[in-house]
Amino acid sequence: MENASELKLSYFDLQAYWGGTKHLGGLKATRELIELCGIGEGMWVLEVGCGVGATTCYLAKKCKCKVVSIDVLKKMVDWAVRRVKREKVQSKVEFVIADAQNLPFRDNVFDSIICESVNAFIEDKQKAVKEYVRVVKAGGSVGFNESTWIKTPPPIELVEYLTRTTGVKEILPSDGWKELLKNSGLTNIVVKTYRMRALSLIVSEIRWLGLRDYLRGWYRFLSLIIHSPAFRKYIREMKPPKNATKNYFKYLGYGIYVGKKR
Ligand SMILES: C[S@@+](CC[C@H](N)C(=O)[O-])C[C@H]1O[C@@H](n2cnc3c(N)ncnc32)[C@H](O)[C@@H]1O
Repeated sequence: MENASELKLSYFDLQAYWGGTKHLGGLKATRELIELCGIGEGMWVLEVGCGVGATTCYLAKKCKCKVVSIDVLKKMVDWAVRRVKREKVQSKVEFVIADAQNLPFRDNVFDSIICESVNAFIEDKQKAVKEYVRVVKAGGSVGFNESTWIKTPPPIELVEYLTRTTGVKEILPSDGWKELLKNSGLTNIVVKTYRMRALSLIVSEIRWLGLRDYLRGWYRFLSLIIHSPAFRKYIREMKPPKNATKNYFKYLGYGIYVGKKR
C-alpha cells in the first residue's frame, strides 16, 4: 500500500489508493452493456480502462469470456490483478498498461470492446473510438457506458466543478457520444440514456464493487482524513461552490452506446 504522505492528490491517484473505481449505473449498467454488445461464452473481449477490475472479473467469471484489460495507470492494474487472483480467473485474463488512444494490438482481433466511464476522461475521444473499431473484428461490437448530459445546457458551475474534482475532459450529451460511433463507421447504433438518484447510485456502487472493497475504500478515506492534513485541505478545496450541485441529477445521467463493425 502506498504511503499516505507520498500520495498524489488527484482523482485517479486517490481511487487507486483506496482501490475503488466506479461508473454510473453500477452492475445494472454493466450487465446491460454486456447484453447489448452480444458478449457470450468463449469470446475475446477487450476492456478499456478497467480500473480495479470488477468488470474484468465479471466478464471472465459470469460470461466465461477471455479478457484483455487495459488501463493507463499501473496502480489500477495492480488492484485488478489482485481481484482476478482472488476470484480465481487468472487463466482467462491478461492485463496491458496502455492508452486507449493508441492501442498496442493488431487490427481485427477482438470479438467485442467495452469501456465504462473512460471516454469522458480522454482528450481525443474520436481517436480512441477509432482505435476500438480498428481492433474489433468485422461483425463485432464496440460499446461504452458514459456519463451523459441528459438535460442541456448544463450549468457552467456544474461543468467546472466536475472538471476540477475529477479531471474529466468533457462529458457529452447522448448525441455527442452517438456521433463518435457513427463517425468511426459503426452501424446498428443503440443508445439508451438513464437518470440517476443518489440512493440508487450508492446501492449500485456497492453491488458492483462488493461490500468488502467498498468498505475498504471508506476505511482508507477516513484514515486519510484523520492522518493527512494535506488531504483535509484537498477535501476543503473540493467543496462545491454554491449552486454547483443544485439539480445535479437533473442534468447528469449516463448512457449506454453500442455499435457494430461492418
Ligand atoms: C472512472 S474510472 C472507471 C474504471 C472502470 N471502468 C470502472 O467502471 O470502475 C476510469 C479509468 O480509466 C482509466 N483511464 C483514463 N484515461 C485512460 C486512457 N487514456 N487510456 C486507458 N485508460 C484510461 C483510469 O486510469 C481509470 O482506471
